[in-house]
Amino acid sequence: MAYEVDNNGVPLGRDGRAAWWTGVIYQIYPRSFQDATGGGIGDLPGITSRLDYLKNTLGVDAIWISPFFRSPMADFGYDVSDYTDVDPIFGTLEDSAELITEAHRLDLKVIFDWVPNHSSDQHPWFVESRSSRTNPKRDWYVWKDPAPGGGPPNNWLSIFGGLAWELDETTGQYYLHTFLKEQPELNWRNPEVEAAMLDSLRFWLDRGVDGFRIDVAHYLAKDPEFRSNPSSTSTPDAVKDYHEYATQEHLYDKAHPDIHRIHGRIRDVLDEYGDRFSVGEIHEFDWVEWAKYFGKNLDQLHMPYNFTMLWTDWNATDFRDRIIAQERALPRGAWPNHVLGNHDEPRLSTRFGTERVRAAAVLLLTLRGTPTMYYGDELGLIDGVIPPGNEQDPWGRRYPELNRDACRTPMQWTLDDGMGFTSAGVEPWLPFADPNTSVASQLDDPTSVLSLYRNLLRLRHEIAELALGDIDMFEGNANDVLAYKRSLDGETTYVAVNFTNEDRPVEFPTEVRQVLSTSAERTEAFTAILLGANEAIVAR
Ligand code: NOJ
Repeated sequence: MAYEVDNNGVPLGRDGRAAWWTGVIYQIYPRSFQDATGGGIGDLPGITSRLDYLKNTLGVDAIWISPFFRSPMADFGYDVSDYTDVDPIFGTLEDSAELITEAHRLDLKVIFDWVPNHSSDQHPWFVESRSSRTNPKRDWYVWKDPAPGGGPPNNWLSIFGGLAWELDETTGQYYLHTFLKEQPELNWRNPEVEAAMLDSLRFWLDRGVDGFRIDVAHYLAKDPEFRSNPSSTSTPDAVKDYHEYATQEHLYDKAHPDIHRIHGRIRDVLDEYGDRFSVGEIHEFDWVEWAKYFGKNLDQLHMPYNFTMLWTDWNATDFRDRIIAQERALPRGAWPNHVLGNHDEPRLSTRFGTERVRAAAVLLLTLRGTPTMYYGDELGLIDGVIPPGNEQDPWGRRYPELNRDACRTPMQWTLDDGMGFTSAGVEPWLPFADPNTSVASQLDDPTSVLSLYRNLLRLRHEIAELALGDIDMFEGNANDVLAYKRSLDGETTYVAVNFTNEDRPVEFPTEVRQVLSTSAERTEAFTAILLGANEAIVAR
């Protein structure tokens, strides 16, 4: 069942107010947020102890926590060996219950990370499945005979490098793994798998979780004929070049149209529980295909993630095009979203430049649609430097230039030994990215990046059109200034972002006053101003 939408195109919850997931989501990488037990790795009690910061100091509406389920940690939790238990590194089931209870007491929504495409090879299902060709769980994973004459069944590749097929010597068949060989693909065409996985959702929904981020949600259905992929004719401009993975057109190893039936089934389960939510990790850069994940009647994902802004240079024209393209692609009643960083990509300070982190914050928090912030970006955190030989990311060990450790360094709460993340004297699992900054040191500085994020989040809650209004570009300005207005019920807020390192004039359609700027004070009303280098302004 889809949700209601008001006259302004805003999705409504069952209480008739804007759906909670139109608010701001904050992503937590649990290994790196807060270590309450002193082992140098973050944990659930640590997160619980920081909920007050997230709600009352920062002002976000929901948290998404990357996986903390039982796992051998071959891919730091994206290899799950029990979907309904907490890994001892992170705590206990009781800790997860306390986290949900405490978050709800603070009116914060909680989103868990569900990894349905593959389990760990240590999951009891896979241990059974690989034990013999006749095991009842054999068909729970994707097993294939070798090609005639030997070798893998087709040419599919793993995103993490090499072939996507691993030969099991004992039973003489290959199993499919789009990621590491420790992450065998579940067979969603088997109704028993579907039922078991949907039950794992119910397990957490029964415990009060408000929603799920769905890992690689576009991989759940593959070509039933297992045809080989053709070679790539071009490198798509929006997709990172995953080495040999980019040498193929991925026609057959993901996103088979049957995937939409699966997402419909997932949605049915969420809708059994009221105002619950799903956001899919969808690396789909064809807007028409992307939009299909909402479902014809908005009955699949509440939102497929829009990653186009992760793959653009700091360029006003490209940002403008992507904003307009998403608005045009949205099915009627669907809600947009924006992402500028996550645990898989270099931090936005690296991709856009440290001098642009403030303008990027204004963009993320004033565009129409749900913003997902990445922990640490509110400090303008830079990527960490990992001493050679200390790499942790299994993918990064294979492709050092794609190592994801740099964006996963521990949160920096204070300037003390351990930076408030872990106990003094304890080595954190990754080095701190920048020992000179912290929440505590930025909190009382009105010019800090943290103060800017706090102000933007406060404005988003105070000014209805910033959270829920329409978006339109306003004309008459240089191409390298992105200027848009947000309007709702007769009220309008204007935003202008200077994408250059030089001053740029901006004209507003009407006389306005500054509400916030990343660098300048303006007390008088104006219709035209000179924006400073990399300055972003909010005005009404
Ligand atoms: C996408 C996740 O974001 C990434 O961190 C993970 O390695 C892969 N899926 C495999 O689950």
